[in-house]
Amino acid sequence: ESINKIRKEAEEFGSGAAEQFRLTFLSKKGKLNGLFEEFKKVSPDLKREMGQQLNVLKNELEAKFQQLQENSGAQGSEAPDEDLTLPIIPDSVGSIHPLSLIRRRIVEIFSRMGFSAEDGPEIESDWYNFSALNFAENHPAREMQDTFFVQKGETAKEDLLLRTHTSNVQIRLMDRKKPPIRSIMAGRVYRNEAISARAHCQFHQVEGLYVDKNVSFKDLKDTLLHFAKEMFGKDTQIRLRPSYFPFTEPSAEIDVTCFICGGDGCNICKHTGWVEIAGSGMVDPNVLQNCGIDPEEYTGFAFGMGIERITMLKYGINDLRLFFENEKRFLSQFSGI
Ligand code: PHE
Repeated sequence: ESINKIRKEAEEFGSGAAEQFRLTFLSKKGKLNGLFEEFKKVSPDLKREMGQQLNVLKNELEAKFQQLQENSGAQGSEAPDEDLTLPIIPDSVGSIHPLSLIRRRIVEIFSRMGFSAEDGPEIESDWYNFSALNFAENHPAREMQDTFFVQKGETAKEDLLLRTHTSNVQIRLMDRKKPPIRSIMAGRVYRNEAISARAHCQFHQVEGLYVDKNVSFKDLKDTLLHFAKEMFGKDTQIRLRPSYFPFTEPSAEIDVTCFICGGDGCNICKHTGWVEIAGSGMVDPNVLQNCGIDPEEYTGFAFGMGIERITMLKYGINDLRLFFENEKRFLSQFSGI
């Protein structure tokens, strides 16, 4: 009785997947083997007849399996039911990340003013990130930038850290090359800050350095004004506010007129008409000296700005986290720019 039941099931299996058929009927745990298990238990007088029937079923199942295999083989080699003259579905091409767009733009503006692009390491020693830049050991200025340490040494001098700004490249450049130096350095920096819409533990800076004979504060101002006009529009003005950085003296914060409201007051500029875009100043003589450049002979200016900040201003982006989440709906908005 069960032999007939399984024969029927196999017949009704239709023309489906050969592998599925094999698993159901012919595999170790399949239905045929189940019958052979039952066969062991039947009384001797039934054994002869049942044995014969089982062998017939076994042959039938194997034949059907072979047939299914052949069918699927034949199907595979048949010409597919598709129109091969149709154009292919295009691969979706990615878009340039907004931070890359703005970084390129900044580098381009400065390169037209004669600044070369330089690069430096992201894992840095205390010397290049702090000490050579005139941060005294244990000076509170070090805490202006919450640092990720990679390796803590016996003294601060032996610390290894993730750079907190791109100013390390200034030092490496001046170590390697003597003035005139006119370069910008763009790259990723890290600070141990809680992640929010307005702060992140990683971001990007572009820093500029110009060292030569007779470089003046006016040169700094003119350079940044030209940059601001190129970046934000020809009517843009800049404003300098006194500030403090260990590696520049005097130091100034650079504001540009708010290009969203044109100075009338809006949310972006918090109704002041100005937005801050950079820190800057005249390179401190101690820094030049640390790099073997005579401060009696040479002077220089430096500035540094956050690429995220400028990108957010340019495109009206209100959450810093969007830059690092690789959300396609966000990124694809910049395609074709
Ligand atoms: N390195 C400073 C910072 O990260 C910015 C800066 C660069 C200021 C160069 C002055 C000159 O905050």
